[in-house]
Amino acid sequence: MITSALQAAPQPEPEAVAASEHIAPAPRVSVQAFCETVETAAAIQSAGEDRRLGKAHLKIQMGGIAAAIEAYNGSPTPNIIMIETASRGDDVIAGLDSLSEVCDAGTRVIVIGRVNDVGFYRELMRRGISDYLLAPLGTIDVVRSICGLFSAPDAKPVGRVIAVIGAKGGVGASTVAHNIAWSIAGDLGLDTVVSDLDLGFGTAGLDYNQDPPQGIADAVFSPDRIDNAFVDRLLSKCTDHLSLLAAPATLDRVYDFGEEAFDSIFDALRATVPCIMLDVPHQWMGWTKRTLVGADDILVVAGPDLANLRNAKNLLDFLKSARPNDRRPYYCLNQVGVQKRPEISAADFAKALDDEPVAVIPFEPQVFGTAANNGQMVAELAASHRTAEMFRQLSQLLTGRSEAKKARSSLLSPLIGKLLKR
Ligand SMILES: Nc1ncnc2c1ncn2[C@@H]1O[C@H](COP(=O)(O)OP(=O)(O)OP(=O)(O)O)[C@@H](O)[C@H]1O
Ligand SMILES: [Mg+2]
Repeated sequence: MITSALQAAPQPEPEAVAASEHIAPAPRVSVQAFCETVETAAAIQSAGEDRRLGKAHLKIQMGGIAAAIEAYNGSPTPNIIMIETASRGDDVIAGLDSLSEVCDAGTRVIVIGRVNDVGFYRELMRRGISDYLLAPLGTIDVVRSICGLFSAPDAKPVGRVIAVIGAKGGVGASTVAHNIAWSIAGDLGLDTVVSDLDLGFGTAGLDYNQDPPQGIADAVFSPDRIDNAFVDRLLSKCTDHLSLLAAPATLDRVYDFGEEAFDSIFDALRATVPCIMLDVPHQWMGWTKRTLVGADDILVVAGPDLANLRNAKNLLDFLKSARPNDRRPYYCLNQVGVQKRPEISAADFAKALDDEPVAVIPFEPQVFGTAANNGQMVAELAASHRTAEMFRQLSQLLTGRSEAKKARSSLLSPLIGKLLKR
């Protein structure tokens, strides 16, 4: 945090920040900010709307350090106090000393100032200040600072959540998710858990040839029991680095969950597993929406037709506006090149969605059909198959290992291009 504090502006673009660093979400904490300028208040306000501070309770007021001292004289302090100060030097230190007298033990203080000086910074750290941010602040600076207080620098890297969803049912979203997870675990050697969120009909168990007695349902139906040992029991091991949190795929119960039903299990996974692959069913419920908004990265899988195009556009537009400080969601095309089927081309998708697909996966009924029926991944069946190579590239992209190759254009000419231009 020292370096971040002393690096002066310019602020990088949010997308660049999102691509280069992984900021884990903050737990349920209370944050109270005492600002001196409307610019800082606005940056903190906008940080409060970031997905990573979704659980934090944020209160912002003006008045700086004097207002803070007055506010806490006789009332309890929150988990984090943010103080903006426009002045330099001694009066800040004196003000912080007075604040420390009214602060409860455990409350952390973040100072926002305009003094870019190592001596001043050291003085603050000596007084137990948790972080010093140099104004003007970007939204992501505030997010990083607050979240950073809860991830110790020597802690194991916390889990990165990747959510995969289809723009329509049956487009192969689960197949894509399972194959990518397989490659993340096998080729990149990252411990990965695939969580099948299609409780009634999910196919992850079939695809990995597993039939575990326990899985995701045990976690969502008993959130109070969730701890590391409990989660360990629910996981079924597929390979060295790959485990599965399987869907029951039984219909004796219904699965209409509340918005926060998956919070506890996701938090538990994040704390221990480096990569969490969420196979999100094609639904628009409170919890699916929350799951997508809260993920670190998102891949939308679309088939090459008009309904997929519309839905993919709606999904991407919604997610971009709900996650303004994140890299935009990725999308790929799947089942492309079905004989005699008119299809919308990758180029037309790129035009309509204002972004290239990260992969154009051909329709290969032989290899995908065989893999599905055998409970195998494409790479197990044919390691050098072109789609196996695509899954390897997607696994690198989604874990931030490298850029995927530019998508190739569709195999068929855009027969429905005219339709699109209407
Ligand atoms: N590129 C492909 N070529 C041929 N078949 C494919 C391809 N991708 C997926 N499939 C097949 O399509 C079928 C549907 O795949 P999958 O279950 O992964 O889709 P989904 O989008 O998750 O569906 P649902 O909406 O039911 O969750 C499966 O039989 C799968 O093997
Ligand atoms: Mg599915």
